[in-house]
This record gives sequence, structure tokens and C-alpha cells, in this order.
Amino acid sequence: MADVPVNPGRRRFLTGSAIAVGAVGAGFATVPFLSSFEPSARAEAAGAPVDVNIGKLAEGQMVTVAWRGQPIFVVHRTDKMVEMLPSLDSQLLDPNSAVASQQPKFADNFFRARKKNIFVVIGVCTHLGCAPTYRPEVAPKDLGPDWKGGFFCPCHGSKYDLAGRVYKSMPAPLNLLVPDYIFATDDIVRIGVAEKKA
Ligand code: FES
Repeated sequence: MADVPVNPGRRRFLTGSAIAVGAVGAGFATVPFLSSFEPSARAEAAGAPVDVNIGKLAEGQMVTVAWRGQPIFVVHRTDKMVEMLPSLDSQLLDPNSAVASQQPKFADNFFRARKKNIFVVIGVCTHLGCAPTYRPEVAPKDLGPDWKGGFFCPCHGSKYDLAGRVYKSMPAPLNLLVPDYIFATDDIVRIGVAEKKA
């Protein structure tokens, strides 16, 4: 399929291989720096596909890479995170991702991904383009007792679940966009490629 349309607000994201890792729980664990997470600046500028090595990405953690000047979030969801997704449907604006431009066809499912446990999404809020924060913890004080984990945009408060689906009555009009990607191997996610070449 064609590339997912790019929100102009993505430019707020500082390019240049910024890497962030989030973790479940109050503490934020660090993981060893993995050079394979870092695409070359030249490849990125050219819009070339970017490989992300998820071999050491622990359950619950997220890594951010840059692709075409946008942050791409790659989350290793736990089984529990995936199983919880359908229970949120009634609270979401578009739980079935009916707006086709929000994701490639392969992600037109309740978990919005090729593999249930690996979630890949463009980290740009669909309201005005801020970068949402990854908030995997359940019922943190600032997000309330009903929060089951997801993404929170600090600019105007839009909330998304762990499949990037936006809640009702938020400023953001759409779910977070899922880019084209493939699994080049079990451990390598290749962002920016629609299909595996034979
Ligand atoms: S930019 Fe995210 S809520 Fe406005």
C-alpha cells in the first residue's frame, strides 16, 4: 500500500537518531545502547527504510527511532496488554480503525500490527503533531484509575490506548498512524517497506 500520509507536525520531532526507551512500572529501566537502533543520518534524510533490532527489547519496553524525520515507536507489548485491548472499545473514537488511511491493510485488526506483541506506530499526535509520551503503567495518579496504559499527548491531553487508538472526546481526530513495515527477520523490524521481497 501507499505510504501513510505524514502529519506536518512531525517536524517538531528532532531528527538525528534520538533514541528513547520506556519501561513498565514506576522506574524507568535503561537498556544497553544498541547501535543497530540508530539509522544513519544519510539514510534517514533520504527516506530510506530503517531497521530496528528488537532482539533485546524487553516486554513492556518501547524504543523510538527516527524515520523520515518522524519518531517511530516500537513497543514490545505483553500478552496482558494485548488481551486488554478489546475491553476498551466502547471508550474509543474508532475502535475498529474504520478510517483506512490510519494504517496499512495488514494492521487492520484489533491490535493494529503484523504481530500482536510488537506494535509499531508513528509517534506524532493526530491533533497538532506533538509527540505523545508512552505511559504503560496502569492507573497512575495523573491519568486516573481507569487508565490501562497507552500514549498521552502532553500538549492538549489526547489519550490513546496501547494500539494507538484515540479515546472519545479528545482533541485528536484520528488514531495514531501505523507506517508500512515488515519483519526482515524475527528480530529486525524494517520501517518504510510495504512487503517482503521474494
Ligand atoms: S497535539 Fe496532541 S493533543 Fe494537541
